[in-house]
Amino acid sequence: MQQILNLLASLNNQANYRTLSPQQHKDVEIYLNQKWLLNLASNDYLNLASDKNLKESFLDSEIFRKNCFFSASSSRSLSGNFEIYAIFEELLESLFNKKALLFNSGYHANIGVISRLNNLKNVLFLADKSIHASHIDGLKSFHKTHFKRFAHNDMQSLTHLLDKYHHHYEAIFILSEGLFSIEGDFAKLHSLIALKKHFKNVYLYLDEAHSIGSFGDNGLGLAQNLNCLEDIDFLILTFGKAIGSVGACVLCNQVFKEYFINTARSLIYSTALPPLNIAMSYFIFSKLPYFEENRKRLKALSLNFKSSLEQLELFEILGDYNILSIILKENQKALFFQQKLQEYGFFLPAIKPPTTAKNRACLRISLCANTPQEKLEIFIKNLIKINNEYLSEYKK
Ligand SMILES: Cc1ncc(COP(=O)(O)O)c(C=O)c1O
Repeated sequence: MQQILNLLASLNNQANYRTLSPQQHKDVEIYLNQKWLLNLASNDYLNLASDKNLKESFLDSEIFRKNCFFSASSSRSLSGNFEIYAIFEELLESLFNKKALLFNSGYHANIGVISRLNNLKNVLFLADKSIHASHIDGLKSFHKTHFKRFAHNDMQSLTHLLDKYHHHYEAIFILSEGLFSIEGDFAKLHSLIALKKHFKNVYLYLDEAHSIGSFGDNGLGLAQNLNCLEDIDFLILTFGKAIGSVGACVLCNQVFKEYFINTARSLIYSTALPPLNIAMSYFIFSKLPYFEENRKRLKALSLNFKSSLEQLELFEILGDYNILSIILKENQKALFFQQKLQEYGFFLPAIKPPTTAKNRACLRISLCANTPQEKLEIFIKNLIKINNEYLSEYKK
């Protein structure tokens, strides 16, 4: 017990202590500590999860009626593999021209798939420094893992590792994200593909958790948008963000799909998602082309907001699309800004190490299609005010 208390006290001292407060949600707002705030921390990028009309049309649909089970009551490997699983996988296969395998979440998909690739003999993983924790947990599930990290989106650093190691391994897996969840920048996909082709024994693993639905033609993500789906060996999609549902899938070839069905522990040893949720993801996916207006709004809002933040010339700003990060460096400063912004009516998290690198604490802003432009203008004014308050309080 003393060990745990010491650990919690040390997190507290580093301004890194997490708490879970009860919340309510209404459209783009969140109710927290007796106040409605603009939610700048949601991944409901197209505002589908909060769309009442969409919810009603799902509840009126045949697909809802046929799949209205609130539990699958078993793993997919036993009696949990309801018909809707195959129907949704077939839809994904037709859209991405690969075999699809559904998992309960992005976390389950990444640890399930990566840990099984990791179990193969003589393989090396090269992971972008900013890769999501679920990739790292997949890699850490075996002691013998061979894995190196390259500097974030730095093709020189990756090339150096490939040059050095490609002769020593039968296969090398490069792990990257389509749109990075903290930095908000896109993967350099053309360069990654050129490296894969150059070194031959290289496979590309791309997690599109933050780009599926919200980006690209018909919302099908970065790889589809750049017309290079066939060069991606493992494509991860998650459904709890822009898709407004829950769950995830890996898209890969038939042999790998069967390998994962037979060995991925997060698939085999967990009750499958309720058919109702699979039906919801299917329903949204089959309607993705109709949300073009939401994507257009999201893009315009994001470009506009980024340019306003940059014009302040007060902070380093990261992000290519709707995820933007304001780099504040020290945990204390990031928390100061978070608390002040909350007082002014905005909810957004300060992201600190270990999620970020040391001394790279930031405010992560995720914009959604319905985020009101006028509120973002107020946000900018408040940011200037808070920066002045911070300077007068801490930098006297
Ligand atoms: C890049 C990335 N992959 C996977 C996940 C996990 O997905 P899920 O929330 O469905 O478990 C996340 C979640 O934040 C993520 O950012």
